[in-house]
Amino acid sequence: MQEIIFATGNEGKMKEVKMILADLVLDGEKVSIRSMKEAGIDIPILENGKSFAENAGIKAKAVAAFAKGAIVMADDSGLEIDYLNKEPGIYSARYLGEDTSYRVKNQNLIERLEGVSERERTARFVCAIACVMPDGRLFTKEATIEGWIGYEEKGTNGFGYDPIFMVYEYGKSTAELSEEEKNAISHRGKALRAVKEELR
Ligand code: IMP
Repeated sequence: MQEIIFATGNEGKMKEVKMILADLVLDGEKVSIRSMKEAGIDIPILENGKSFAENAGIKAKAVAAFAKGAIVMADDSGLEIDYLNKEPGIYSARYLGEDTSYRVKNQNLIERLEGVSERERTARFVCAIACVMPDGRLFTKEATIEGWIGYEEKGTNGFGYDPIFMVYEYGKSTAELSEEEKNAISHRGKALRAVKEELR
C-alpha cells in the first residue's frame, strides 16, 4: 500500500487533510495517510523561507529524509489581510507568539481593523502544498480562498483564524461552516485536489 506522510503537527490541519485525501487511489490501491507524529518522525524544522511555497518545500524535504519510500507532503498556509500589508502572512502561526491563544490573536486583529469599512477588510487564506515523491522529485501547488475579516468572532468549527474569516460564498465565517462545506471551497481543499490530480 502506498503511504503518504503529512509533515504537520497541527491537528486541525491534519483532520482536514485526511478528509480531503480520503478518496485517493494510486496504482489501484487505497493510500494510507499518517501525520509525522503517527509515523514516529519528530524532528525540529526551521521554517526560514520567504514564501508559503518555500516553507512548504523546506518542511517536506526535511521529513522526506526520514520517510523510507513514502510520499511526503507538507502544507504551509496562513492569513493575508490586505489593510495590514498582508500580515500575518507566513508568520500566521507565530503571530503574537506561537503559544498565544487564537482568542487573543483574533481579538488583536479585529482591534487593528477598528473603524475600517467592510470594503477594506479584504483578506485571504493561502495554502501551499509541497510533495516529495519517493524518487526525490518535488512539486508544489498553491491555492487561496478570498474573504474579509469580520467584526467579531463567529462559530466554533475549524481552527486558528477561522472565527474571523468571512467567506463570500456563504456570508459566514469558516468556523460556521461544516467540515465538508469548508473543504469544498478552502485554500487547503483546492491545493490538495490539485496535488491529487498531479499524483494520478
Ligand atoms: P503553518 O503550520 O506554519 O503553516 O501555520 C499556518 C497557520 O495559518 C495556522 O496555524 C493558522 O494560524 C493559519 N491558518 C492556515 N490555514 C487556516 C485555516 O484553514 N483556518 C484558520 N487558520 C488557518
